[in-house]
Amino acid sequence: MASSEPTLFNQVVNLCKRRGFVFPSAEIYGGFRSTYDYGPLGVLMLRNVKDAWWRSMVQMRSDVVGLDAAILSPPQIWEASGHLANFTDPLVDCTACKTRHREDQLEDPNVCPTCGKEGTFTEARAFNLMFKTSAGPVEGAGTEVYLRPETAQGMFVNFKNVLETIRKKPPFGIAQVGKSFRNEITPGNFVFRTREFEQMELEFFVPPEEADTWYRYWMSERYEWYLELGVPADKLRMRPHDDDELSHYSSGTSDVEFMFPWGWGELEGIANRGDYDLKQHAEKSGQKLEYFDQSTGERYVPHCIEPAAGATRSMMAFLLAAYDEEKVNDEVRTVLRLHPRLAPYKVAILPLSKKDTLLPVSEEVLKLLQPHFMCDYDVTQTIGKRYRRQDEIGTPFCVTVDFDSLEDRAVTVRERDSMEQERIPIEELVSYLTQKLGL
Ligand code: GAP
Repeated sequence: MASSEPTLFNQVVNLCKRRGFVFPSAEIYGGFRSTYDYGPLGVLMLRNVKDAWWRSMVQMRSDVVGLDAAILSPPQIWEASGHLANFTDPLVDCTACKTRHREDQLEDPNVCPTCGKEGTFTEARAFNLMFKTSAGPVEGAGTEVYLRPETAQGMFVNFKNVLETIRKKPPFGIAQVGKSFRNEITPGNFVFRTREFEQMELEFFVPPEEADTWYRYWMSERYEWYLELGVPADKLRMRPHDDDELSHYSSGTSDVEFMFPWGWGELEGIANRGDYDLKQHAEKSGQKLEYFDQSTGERYVPHCIEPAAGATRSMMAFLLAAYDEEKVNDEVRTVLRLHPRLAPYKVAILPLSKKDTLLPVSEEVLKLLQPHFMCDYDVTQTIGKRYRRQDEIGTPFCVTVDFDSLEDRAVTVRERDSMEQERIPIEELVSYLTQKLGL
């Protein structure tokens, strides 16, 4: 049975806390303003999400290279990009209960959702979402820096460096994964909207006349990526932006959206940014940011197609899509049907008993598998309880070492979704699991 939607959100949030995926940040001090820490399982899964993206966007392609740009950045970047002037949300204060809200997210623009009073809002003012701080020991003019609100600008300001060091010609892309920061007025819905989060962005530079073709290409590629990693088609859709929704730089944007428990929400935006960013940075920096084609003598500013995804938000969607409960022998089994690529552990090694006789061969199996797969090793409680624990965190395979293993040098391999078991010789285990996991 699929878990019903109203409780799904709470079930997943509870599981994340209970099993060490995501903890409220600074919890011993009462938590800290919608920030979260990724625990022992969360750090593995989040890394798997980012690795899956990197594999598909960089490793498997010859037209994309990577970058890791600084998070601290000077105001000139954000002036040129338009963020200083335009990266704002409309903020209103309720004069009765003193709460703050995003005007564009209010169900009724005249009624405060916190105290229910009508007509108590101030005029909306444009609130800039960038975090500003100061670099160096002396505060004052010329020391202000910003925490980047998107990774994208790192690619634009390094366009020339990359072009000069890597022999690529448009169409080619620069990819980056990393933290971004936005002083969101209303963070919430767990890690869906936070002030500190991770993005996975590609800036794909193309000859201007090819922009529309590549825009469509990336819409389809990115939609497929989520499907391949196990998000069901009925929970995924592509939604083109209306003209009044477009960002200040965009001449066309479509969002990949996921059916969250509260409704459709954005996972990723694919934008046709035209030549806006390179032209802006060229003008403000005085540098030439263009491509010169030696074979034709042509010089032009490439247009940019940008698939911009959230790593932390996608991880939440993958968890929601994978969560399932089913009845097995009159008991409810919770199982995370995660794609093996995303599962924190690929294999759990479970000695049937804690007896010393089984431990040497169990540890031998662990050492055999560790170089190939992220493994868990668990000797506590009954084997049934240990299977359930692994099901709940999405481990695709459990390997049980029993007393027969000492004689026949074989182990029992149990598959998470079907719960089917097979006896496999230890010496064939690596190739068996490699083939079954299909990584
Ligand atoms: N460079 C374009 C850009 O940043 P965006 O739509 O603002 O576009 C891209 O952000 C993705 O980053 C979003 O689709 C979402 O997945 C993620 N994201 C944005 N703001 C976020 C937040 N406050 N918390 C978590 N993820 C966020």
